[in-house]
Amino acid sequence: MENKELIRMAIDGLQYSYAPYSNFNVSAVLVAKNGTIFTGCNIENAGYTPTNCAERTAIFKAVSEGVKEFEKIVIVGGKNRKVESLTAPCGVCRQVMMEFCNPKTFKIVLAKSEDKYKEFTLEELLPLGFGPEDLK
Ligand code: THU
Repeated sequence: MENKELIRMAIDGLQYSYAPYSNFNVSAVLVAKNGTIFTGCNIENAGYTPTNCAERTAIFKAVSEGVKEFEKIVIVGGKNRKVESLTAPCGVCRQVMMEFCNPKTFKIVLAKSEDKYKEFTLEELLPLGFGPEDLK
């Protein structure tokens, strides 16, 4: 699937974002190496701490269904579901990506619209990341 189509899916997924406290809605579309697509949104909580980011929702959905190899994630976000700038993954989400993704090849697409986006590798967004390889 092309970035354009994945970005469209991510924008469509903003409708499911549950963010009554920050009103900052985020949606992610995760592409597995086997071609399966997992969507995710941020899910906030009155206790604040249990909040789950869109990226982790998508990754945990995949892992919970037995899929652990990923190619790419597309992220969109904005206040009140209006995407006006790029939303980059938080540090915790970058670390979760590090657990399952190859930092040199896993792509992170930050999109503002179907045609306006920037693509990074995980290594670019998490230099010198600590991951499973370090514990071998
Ligand atoms: N959030 C995400 O879901 N992903 C990001 O990449 C950045 C932040 C969420 C968490 C919280 O619900 C809201 O955005 C404001 O931090």
